[in-house]
Amino acid sequence: MRKPIIAGNWKMYKTTAEARALVQGLKEKALPAGVEVVLCPPFTALTTVAELAKGTEIGLGAQNLFWAEEGAYTGEISPVMLKELGCTYVIIGHSERRQYFGETDDNVNKKAQAALEHGLKPIICVGESLEQREAGETASFVSGQVKKALEGLAPESIPQVVIAYEPIWAIGTGRSSSSADANQVIALIRQTIAKQFSSDLADQVRIQYGGSVKPENITEYMAQPEIDGALVGGASLKADAFFGILSY
Ligand code: PGA
Repeated sequence: MRKPIIAGNWKMYKTTAEARALVQGLKEKALPAGVEVVLCPPFTALTTVAELAKGTEIGLGAQNLFWAEEGAYTGEISPVMLKELGCTYVIIGHSERRQYFGETDDNVNKKAQAALEHGLKPIICVGESLEQREAGETASFVSGQVKKALEGLAPESIPQVVIAYEPIWAIGTGRSSSSADANQVIALIRQTIAKQFSSDLADQVRIQYGGSVKPENITEYMAQPEIDGALVGGASLKADAFFGILSY
């Protein structure tokens, strides 16, 4: 009953010219119907991707936002601005933002709240470090991140939320989590949401796996009952590889 969602997180890759070429490459292929496809280019390429994606099934997402509608916040982008460009999704709390840009659980919560208030669906990223995994802290750390990210959100907005479980040690490393391990953590995330809100709401939340997803391993993730899609970095930067993932 949950429609799978596969999103390409382009990170800080692709000029507008490169973005155009990538989207055109994807448009030449027949995208599968059973999966929601979302592209998350850098802010500078949102307009280009929006224009090219118009009339297709390709959805648009940003990689970050600031929670205020407008104001003296040099360098920031508001939810209103993203909506105007045609975004329906926004990635929030990616581990690279937590690591390099000081993003905290509190920021993530404020951003999720702001996104939902403006009709943007947040893709909230959570995931443990290698140290935490080895110390057996994955469950407590990840469920803590989820709880704090969703704190105070209106229950009726919860079905709009997407969670991306991305173990930090698997991002961009070629070292992906086993599908069974990912399924187990994702099941725990769903239980956390069930406790915080209700099991009916938790059952509606789509939870993706992310971290070195490629055409060669997507099938095993999608075969897992709790995994509702993928957040894809490196392999979303080439039309052939991303299409290979979409047609898992
Ligand atoms: P990766 O990145 O697919 O390159 O590992 C995933 C992500 O950071 O979202």
